[in-house]
Amino acid sequence: MCGIVGYIGHNKAIEKVISGLESLEYRGYDSAGIAYLNNNKINIIKEEGKIINLKNKLDLNINSNLAIGHTRWATHGEANKINAHPHQVGKITLVHNGIIENYEEIREKLINEGYKFKSETDSEVAAALIDYYYDKDILKAINKATKEFIGSYALGIIVENDSNLYAVRKTSPLIIGCGKDEYFIASDVPAILKYTNNYIALDDLEICVINDEIKIYNNLKEIKKEVQIYDSDESSITKGHFKHFMLKEIYEQPKVIKKTIESYFNGDINSLLTSFPKLNKYNKIHIVACGSAYHTGLIGKALIEKYADIKVEVYIASEYRYNKVFYDDKTLVILISQSGETADTLAALKKAKQDNIDTLAIVNVYQSSIAREAKYVIYTMAGIEVAVATTKAYSCQISILILITIYLAYKNNKLTKKEINNIYQDMLKLPDILNNLIKKDYTKIAKNIYKHNDIFFIGRGIDYYLSMEGSLKLKEISYINSVSYAAGELKHGTISLIDKNTPVIAISTDNKLYDKTISNIKETKARGAYNILISNIENNEFDNLILIPKFNELLTPLLSVIPLQLLAYEVAKLKDCDIDKPRNLAKSVTVE
Ligand code: F6R
Repeated sequence: MCGIVGYIGHNKAIEKVISGLESLEYRGYDSAGIAYLNNNKINIIKEEGKIINLKNKLDLNINSNLAIGHTRWATHGEANKINAHPHQVGKITLVHNGIIENYEEIREKLINEGYKFKSETDSEVAAALIDYYYDKDILKAINKATKEFIGSYALGIIVENDSNLYAVRKTSPLIIGCGKDEYFIASDVPAILKYTNNYIALDDLEICVINDEIKIYNNLKEIKKEVQIYDSDESSITKGHFKHFMLKEIYEQPKVIKKTIESYFNGDINSLLTSFPKLNKYNKIHIVACGSAYHTGLIGKALIEKYADIKVEVYIASEYRYNKVFYDDKTLVILISQSGETADTLAALKKAKQDNIDTLAIVNVYQSSIAREAKYVIYTMAGIEVAVATTKAYSCQISILILITIYLAYKNNKLTKKEINNIYQDMLKLPDILNNLIKKDYTKIAKNIYKHNDIFFIGRGIDYYLSMEGSLKLKEISYINSVSYAAGELKHGTISLIDKNTPVIAISTDNKLYDKTISNIKETKARGAYNILISNIENNEFDNLILIPKFNELLTPLLSVIPLQLLAYEVAKLKDCDIDKPRNLAKSVTVE
């Protein structure tokens, strides 16, 4: 949430910062701004809306070797030019990602000291506090101010009459990109990939000072940190021949699911037992996550309970933190997160840790906060996901949950080595099956539903959990109000909303529940609904059938989600929505 980028080096700083911001635009796009040093003077330019508006106001060729930039997802104060970053107070100019929770208190104190504020933001207050403590030693001032902040922050700072770039973080992510004779600071790796794969991950409260070299301080003492190499290139952050990142990422699923599975499992259960943390002792699992990751948790629950016979409870992270939860030393808390930075999930993780409960993170972003905080980590291998609506990370999370299911089922004597090897043989068939499903044409069905204001998704059991994802995908990118219901629950109230031609999308892949689900669809058909059935059983009684292959039940959720993703995509395309950057959203939700 909010993207920050900074540059110092021998090249054109403005151009580099804008290019970095463009790759981070998925983090927020309410307004954008840049501060750059030119002829020893700090210039600030800000614009409302997307980065293109800012870019149109800038001369990218201006001679500058030091700049900081920001793309905003508004938290404190509306999305306007005044609240946009960078903020300048006294000698300090900064960009900020995160939330300073005690900013009102600090603001009061500074107002009493004579400071005046122009914006409604906590970020301007952060700049003012550093300025307040700045006498001769900027390092001391940053150190003192950041110790006073409660909350989360990644800050990129430039200072009047000073040629250095400064950076500091707590909880919010920040990396330092190390190019040839040039350095970057950035909220995420995509901002630097065009220029370098080398980076340093800053830890909480470390302050970085960059000029011709990088110096990092912890509590004002210089420390050494290793430069790491990010294993990916620029192609992962460009659309290639695809119209949208979302479509590209849907197409990448066969490859990344295979990569995720093969990173841990080769058909022999021992490969899984040795590559995963030891999970033998747990007899109760809590899965905690937000949004789509929460939906994968529900799929995980259905699979683990069915195959491994272990009780799983799934919680929305923002609720988990404040509810009374019941666990003991045999409980494992699994946190699922693509970004690894989601504030609610991170807070839930910290709660479990405080109670001395073992935590396992399923995370896509290497060394993200959740990955670093958890006792155990299993990485999904989705690669960089740029579209705000998750697709490939969702599927990779399910892949890991399938592997956890196999692990636990084997340990609980519910699956034999032979059965496990058979599952693996089916896993090998996944890429072809998924590719065939992806290549199907979903536009005809999309054309029949995209003008509706309400769309219903129904299913039973695991298909209900999938329908939740289908509904979320549709509403977040097409802005159509859609809800998902357990198919059997409709008649207890919601069926009153079904009117002539209301689209009802039903998923039925669990063949034991097939007849029951079909009856529920017919109940809506009898009331005039326009029915779309996604199933692995041929049935032409309804308006549309999306037939998916009959396949290994454990792997079937990976198949069923493809039509849901592509249907949402095609509907949003027909509505001419900004598919990769839906309104009001941001990819990495670092506020609670
Ligand atoms: C929906 C979507 C969100 C995320 C949620 C959690 O398409 O992307 O619902 O799943 O914000 O984000 P992570 O996985 O980064 O914790």
